[in-house]
Amino acid sequence: QAVTLIGVPTDVGAGRLGAAMGPDALRVAQLGPALAHFGVDVQDIGNLAGPPNPRGARDAQGLRNYAECQAWNQATHDTVLAQLQAGRMPIMLGGDHTLATGSISAVARYCRMAGKRLRVLWLDAHADCNLPDISPTGNLHGMPVASLCGHGPAPLAGMAGFTPALQGPDICQIGLRSVDEVEKRMIQRLGLEVFDMRAIDEQGMRAVMQQALAGLEGPEGDDVHLHLSFDVDFLDPDIAPGTGTTVRGGPNYREAQLCMEMIADTGRLASLDIVELNPALDIRNQTAELVVDLVESLFGKSTLVR
Ligand code: ARG
Ligand code: MN
Ligand code: MN
Ligand code: MN
Repeated sequence: QAVTLIGVPTDVGAGRLGAAMGPDALRVAQLGPALAHFGVDVQDIGNLAGPPNPRGARDAQGLRNYAECQAWNQATHDTVLAQLQAGRMPIMLGGDHTLATGSISAVARYCRMAGKRLRVLWLDAHADCNLPDISPTGNLHGMPVASLCGHGPAPLAGMAGFTPALQGPDICQIGLRSVDEVEKRMIQRLGLEVFDMRAIDEQGMRAVMQQALAGLEGPEGDDVHLHLSFDVDFLDPDIAPGTGTTVRGGPNYREAQLCMEMIADTGRLASLDIVELNPALDIRNQTAELVVDLVESLFGKSTLVR
């Protein structure tokens, strides 16, 4: 297995500064060596280049730092596509969640060429399906799911080369607990599959993941490309303080580990975003270290021989 680490040091889509330092925090926490330990061929191609954060106000269409977000997404798209075509699994070291428009657009484009079915797992406290006019903040990191489903500014919605890049039911969101009022209707309108924290509390992580991953194992899942978009604020702030939009009541350490282990068991993971890690808000890099721990499970680390 060959993976490529791609640093995307930007916070232009976020409301606060700091996620631009995420890639280096993950390197300091030894993400690359941790994967190499499992026999993975790891190549770190360093950080993508892009515009700095102008910390702009909302523009006429209601967006903050729109041109900069577009530039970062285009760079992400182009690099992810090249890595997929080279047969390597791209791992985005974010960076704010806006970058998922670029990465998943590239994955969608690749899947269409390669004849694969795309399934996206979106681990997040938020639904990220706001539109410019309904967003309470104008921050683009609250909108990538809407772009991917064909809504909002056309250059983002069309980045895959076709629109929409994804259908709502291709996306499964897990861990939601903070959704803006109008955004709730977007979830319905887009037809996203959602397991919110109430579902996890009532059914348990195991049952939720069994449903989220249904059809991926065995021959019927053979042609599936599984993309994981992992927003660090999915995790409970008690264990993951290093992110800009914490919401209490998230998955604990053991639930998060089980979630990753069950994804690993499918054997279908083919691309990954790690986003919204903000070292400026972290405590001694503990959130980055936790993420590395979880990514180890995602790559098959287990307690017993399997
Ligand atoms: N719903 C809020 C907004 O639209 C928060 C979004 C947080 N998104 C994230 N990727 N952390 O601004
Ligand atoms: Mn979030
Ligand atoms: Mn997010
Ligand atoms: Mn460990």
